[in-house]
Amino acid sequence: MRSQVVIIGGGPSGMLLGQLLHRKGIEAVVLERKTRDYVLGRIRAGILESGMVDLMREAGVADRLDRECFTHDGTLIAVDRDMFHVDFKALIGQSVTLYGQTEVTRDLYEAREATGAQTIFNVEDVTIHDADTDAPHVTFSVDGQARRIDCDYIAGCDGFHGVSRQTIPDSVRREYEKVYPFGWLGILSETPPVNEELIYASSERGFALCSMRNAALSRYYIQCSLSDSVEDWSDDAFWDELRRRIPEEAADSLVTGPSIEKSIAPLRSFVTEPMRWGRLFLCGDAAHIVPPTGAKGLNTAASDIHYLYEGLVQLYEAGDPEGIDRYSERALARVWKAERFSWWMTTLLHRFPDMSEFDLRMQRADIDFLRENRDAQKVMATNYVGLPY
Ligand code: APR
Ligand code: PHB
Repeated sequence: MRSQVVIIGGGPSGMLLGQLLHRKGIEAVVLERKTRDYVLGRIRAGILESGMVDLMREAGVADRLDRECFTHDGTLIAVDRDMFHVDFKALIGQSVTLYGQTEVTRDLYEAREATGAQTIFNVEDVTIHDADTDAPHVTFSVDGQARRIDCDYIAGCDGFHGVSRQTIPDSVRREYEKVYPFGWLGILSETPPVNEELIYASSERGFALCSMRNAALSRYYIQCSLSDSVEDWSDDAFWDELRRRIPEEAADSLVTGPSIEKSIAPLRSFVTEPMRWGRLFLCGDAAHIVPPTGAKGLNTAASDIHYLYEGLVQLYEAGDPEGIDRYSERALARVWKAERFSWWMTTLLHRFPDMSEFDLRMQRADIDFLRENRDAQKVMATNYVGLPY
């Protein structure tokens, strides 16, 4: 079998690229290791930058998003028992969109199914061959049968644990990583959100975040130890701890209820360079990971997809390889800035186990400066709403 592009991984990166290419008449097969239900069962962050929303529009999959999303013009930062507002709209005239990333993936799946474009699920042993030549191909097996697809280009959208990144030889690949000494324990509950906008809270007991999916569905997180397991945290223990980490007025109005999902995620910053090797292009989590503080995971994946999509269209429509030749450089330039912002927000708001009294004073000074200084708030707002592509 032959396809112009093979996309490895049917997460949001792969599905968005597939849909955009389909609209331009460029054929792409998506290979996904899991089932559709498995992919759509993963709960992810809920903030979309305007660049991501524009891509959803361009892909023709923004109808439900336009109906159901919420616009957030700012966010709250809480320190111990105090709170201040960072008003993105007033500071820089921009906002962010609240819409669950799982819903983004669902919309992309539905759109792809409607086009009849091919997605092959439950693939095993995906292997990329000859990516550094002009005639690459991908082999895999499905239902015990060996398959092969010859193609022009391969998009490695297979997440942090995928095969695409590993295909790039060690002699070419450079990896940069920071692992944080804590995790996030998150719960989803069918309760009204405690506040209209998100509250990012720094407290002596550790970080907490109050987020939401809609008026009846809330998402909360607390910083936890890496040795904790979900079983260590009853719902009551979670709510008690959350109340202790957020300002009193929020704690008093918090509506609690049974969790419908509870999970722990470790925090990591990671970048691999280059993001292109021959005819293989890495996108999204396959190339970089951010800690969730600031919700840049899907949004950095979206900018990769934008650059690769533009490059492939430029190539197929005008025969001009400039866009794909500069893909890695362009994508990385933006990725590193999102990495810096996520690292900064994480460092600003979390309690690190080895912090000295000096470190604590530095952190406090950084937060106080943000509270008092409009320019500092503008810098935060500019990064939070998303840097231009
Ligand atoms: N073969 C085929 N598919 C694979 C393979 C493989 N060897 N390895 C992984 N996959 C699939 C996974 O099952 C998953 O569905 O690739 C997909 C990768 O999806 P994500 O991990 O969600 O990565 P990405 O699409 O880049 O998502 C980017 O969106 O929702 C956010 O937090 C998420 O930051 C992430 C961002
Ligand atoms: C979420 O809603 O899950 C969320 C929001 C903002 C973040 C991280 C997660 O920074």
